[in-house]
Amino acid sequence: MINQPDDNDFLIKIAHTFGTPVYVYWEELINRQIKQLQMAFKGLPCEFHYAMKANENPEILKIILKNGLGVDAVSVNEIKRALSVGFTNEKIIYTPSCPSVDELIFAFDRHVHTHIGATEYFDFILKHYPDNPIGLRINPGNHIGGNPKIATAHNDSKFGIPVNQLNLIKQYMSKGLKVDSLHLHTGSDVNSWQDLVRSVDVIFDFARHFDHLKYIDLGSGFKVTYRHDEEEIDLKAYASYIREKIKTINYPVRIKFEPGKYLVSDAGVLLVKVNVVKQGFNKKFVGVDSGFHHLIRPMYYDAYHEIVNLSNTQYATEKYDIVGVLCEEDTFARDRLLSPVNKDDILMIKNAGAYGFSMSSEYNLRDKPKQVLITKDGIKEI
Ligand SMILES: Cc1ncc(COP(=O)(O)O)c(C=O)c1O
Repeated sequence: MINQPDDNDFLIKIAHTFGTPVYVYWEELINRQIKQLQMAFKGLPCEFHYAMKANENPEILKIILKNGLGVDAVSVNEIKRALSVGFTNEKIIYTPSCPSVDELIFAFDRHVHTHIGATEYFDFILKHYPDNPIGLRINPGNHIGGNPKIATAHNDSKFGIPVNQLNLIKQYMSKGLKVDSLHLHTGSDVNSWQDLVRSVDVIFDFARHFDHLKYIDLGSGFKVTYRHDEEEIDLKAYASYIREKIKTINYPVRIKFEPGKYLVSDAGVLLVKVNVVKQGFNKKFVGVDSGFHHLIRPMYYDAYHEIVNLSNTQYATEKYDIVGVLCEEDTFARDRLLSPVNKDDILMIKNAGAYGFSMSSEYNLRDKPKQVLITKDGIKEI
């Protein structure tokens, strides 16, 4: 493996060569995550569809494609991006949230399998696409999944068809609606496989009301450890549980998963440069040349990202708030212990490969960061 995220000199060189802020991704680390996932679920009849919203850079998608995975798209532009990179329509699933009818038409006309998350679309589908089998995204009504902003399967969530609308679904099916698969996604901050299986139980119970489903899509929920003291979900235990559940369906049904951050989060870092170290009333601030327009997770989800001062390898002895350049509250970390920081030092924000660049903006008319991919053949801007 070349130049992992702990190779300070190499990363400082990248920062100076490409300029900051810059996202750096490692192809080998994405490959490693894919293999780990495939190992954990070995023996289960399943497929993985990378949730491309996590990082939709075409070069990242090509790595996913090379490994034989499919993608989960959530917008027409994501479908177009996936097709342009080389995914065939069978390798794409589409899980939109409150789409317009025109967006559904785009997917249906290209035979991209679509998960419908509201019974209110059924009249349109029956009238215009009666022969088009659909997947149903259901909402199991489970209050699990950590941070409420990324818990998507509870009673007050906009996502999915509430399971108590089963009778309505049956009525439409008796009128000809074709349902060939079920889908759910519990959330992105689930702490244990025991929490995830509460949704698995609901969807398998629900599945008994349908004949010959092609697949059951269990979404994601594959936790990434952002802090040293966090534990990953025991994927092997989760896989064994699902293996037993499949036996309750008396015909062969496949499982799909939609991992996003598990595949790319740890494979990317954001390098930023220190513009100023300033003393406040009580706190010392490190002002860097970035902000929530480049990585919104700390402000939006209160997410923790480890931060390392690459330019100073002494012990961490100083407490700082690490803040950005935007015109409002814009904090990457509070009271964070770092080795002493000086102007022009390069800081590395770890675990930034997922929902980093893909959620970035040009707020305050600031440029987006650059992106660099490290492969075994070298380094390239992507
Ligand atoms: C429907 C769906 N599938 C998959 C994912 C990917 O989740 P994660 O990045 O936590 O793996 C998400 C994330 O929001 C989602 O909404």
